[in-house]
Amino acid sequence: MKIILLGPPGAGKGTQAKSISNRYDIPHISTGDIFRKNISEETPLGVEAKRYIDNGQLVPDSLTIDIVKDRLSDEDCKKGFLLDGFPRTVAQAEALKVFLQNKNEGMDCALLIDVPKDFILDRMTGRRVCLSCGASYHIKFNPSKVEGKCDVCGSDIIQRKDDNEATVKERLQVYDNQTQPLINYYNEEKLLKVVDGTKAINEVFDSVCNILGRDK
Ligand code: AP5
Ligand code: MG
Ligand code: ZN
Repeated sequence: MKIILLGPPGAGKGTQAKSISNRYDIPHISTGDIFRKNISEETPLGVEAKRYIDNGQLVPDSLTIDIVKDRLSDEDCKKGFLLDGFPRTVAQAEALKVFLQNKNEGMDCALLIDVPKDFILDRMTGRRVCLSCGASYHIKFNPSKVEGKCDVCGSDIIQRKDDNEATVKERLQVYDNQTQPLINYYNEEKLLKVVDGTKAINEVFDSVCNILGRDK
């Protein structure tokens, strides 16, 4: 099973990805999580990526595509994978297609979590994330059991630096200009499926399972 999760910032890609990855036993690959890990470890990639991420801009395709190709070459991706936050530009989508075509493979599904803009600011400014395992919480909609601690791994949960109102607005603009065209792209590739992302987290997951199938 090879799946892409599409959707604006705050749509719930990361939240659904955790459940999908568990349910279907495929690795969850989030380019945002990879960049954030590198930023916290102050690697050269992290230092470079931070310049863009803190301003709500996309990290250049040249960097991003190589990272994903590397990750997809790992052994655990042989059984399938779930991409969260990649591709985000048509150039990234094309690079992914060529990479898979060279192995006589292709994606199975591009799943759009559809959420209108007026839901997003609340979701983003109330979000808390775990930098160790990538789990995502919300102070109102999905609080952690112990305040400030991750349910999954017990690490501290924090507010992302790019989750302030000004940067969220910038990210939404970038999404409209650079990522939204992928909806049409995957529609033409006959891979697009859409779920209503405004419902409760478990209801969204239910719709996702209806699309992906009840079996592993
Ligand atoms: P990335 O980390 O991918 O951020 P994003 O796309 O902006 O998406 P988010 O992670 O903000 O939202 P999400 O959809 O995962 O929502 P979540 O599940 O957390 O990218 C960050 C940056 O890295 C980019 O800006 C860019 O600079 C760079 N980058 C990454 N990939 C790149 C690429 N391919 N190319 C170039 N640059 C790249 O949910 C949000 C909140 O809502 C949470 O609090 C959650 O608890 C809550 N919530 C979720 N679902 C529901 C629901 N159904 N009801 C109520 N609340 C909900
Ligand atoms: Mg995310
Ligand atoms: Zn955690």
